[in-house]
Amino acid sequence: MKGILLAGGSGTRLYPMTLAASKQLLPVYDKPMIYYPLTTLMLAGIRDIMIISTPADLPQFKRLLGDGSQFGVRFEYREQPTPDGIAQAFLIAGEWLKGSPCALVLGDNLIFADHLSALLQKAGKIEKGATVFAYQVRDPERYGVVSFDETGKALTVEEKPPEPKSNWAITGLYFYDDRVYDFARKVKPSARGELEITDLNRFYLEEGTLQVDRLGRGCAWLDAGLPESLMQAGQFVHTIQARQGMLVGSPGEVAFRMGYITADQLRTHAAKMGKTELGRLLKELADHGDQG
Ligand code: DAU
Repeated sequence: MKGILLAGGSGTRLYPMTLAASKQLLPVYDKPMIYYPLTTLMLAGIRDIMIISTPADLPQFKRLLGDGSQFGVRFEYREQPTPDGIAQAFLIAGEWLKGSPCALVLGDNLIFADHLSALLQKAGKIEKGATVFAYQVRDPERYGVVSFDETGKALTVEEKPPEPKSNWAITGLYFYDDRVYDFARKVKPSARGELEITDLNRFYLEEGTLQVDRLGRGCAWLDAGLPESLMQAGQFVHTIQARQGMLVGSPGEVAFRMGYITADQLRTHAAKMGKTELGRLLKELADHGDQG
């Protein structure tokens, strides 16, 4: 399975912070935001990753992430000239995908859960259909919303409905089978002029192959798209790291734990982090192995 990390858009809800800088490069506590969704894809076992961003911001992502070899993965970079919708990512990636199944993660979505890797790897094994994740929120009208019938089967998916049929928001992490490109080509621009990911999901729903996994209490899903949620995400990461001494959202750590890089490669990566706490924790992991 391949993966797409969508990190474009104009970030208007974070102005003036994003007037001259990409939203997905803003700090979430001690790391750039994009590190978090990147580790989500890596934990799913995905090593071929396309990063899509604006023509202005793409060079900064290349500078930060390189070709992926430091994390034992391969990065491809593509421009999205204008933010015409999330589903457009599959049209941009079409040739590269070569009919492969594909996961998509939004560059401002942070997911933390126990056993996340197992959950994601299960979704990554999908043969026919799509898997998305739902999370209960207080403000569903801000998101894609899924409703269920009494047996727990997904009934409807709607994008930012003024009157949501449930409190279950669809998170910005999606797994699709090898037909995703063909479905994406059928998506028509919505009233706001975007190729909506929810319309793509509806094709699978109508076919009866949309699997919706509900994320429970032990799981945190944060999107860092507003000043307040950006701060909350940073505080969350800080709380866990300070209390447990464990890293959250470190692609170096995940690469090592997943066996993508050796201890020596992790040491080299840690050295690049200088005298930071992140660098210290990564070096400790490289020197003393897995204690977590
Ligand atoms: O966060 C989950 C939600 O993400 C889902 O529940 C919604 O169904 C989905 O439409 C999306 O809603 P948002 O309102 O958060 O979408 P937004 O336009 O903010 O875009 C999300 C991210 O994707 C953002 O970091 C920018 C990036 N993006 C967005 C568009 C429309 C792009 O890179 N290109 C685009 O064309």
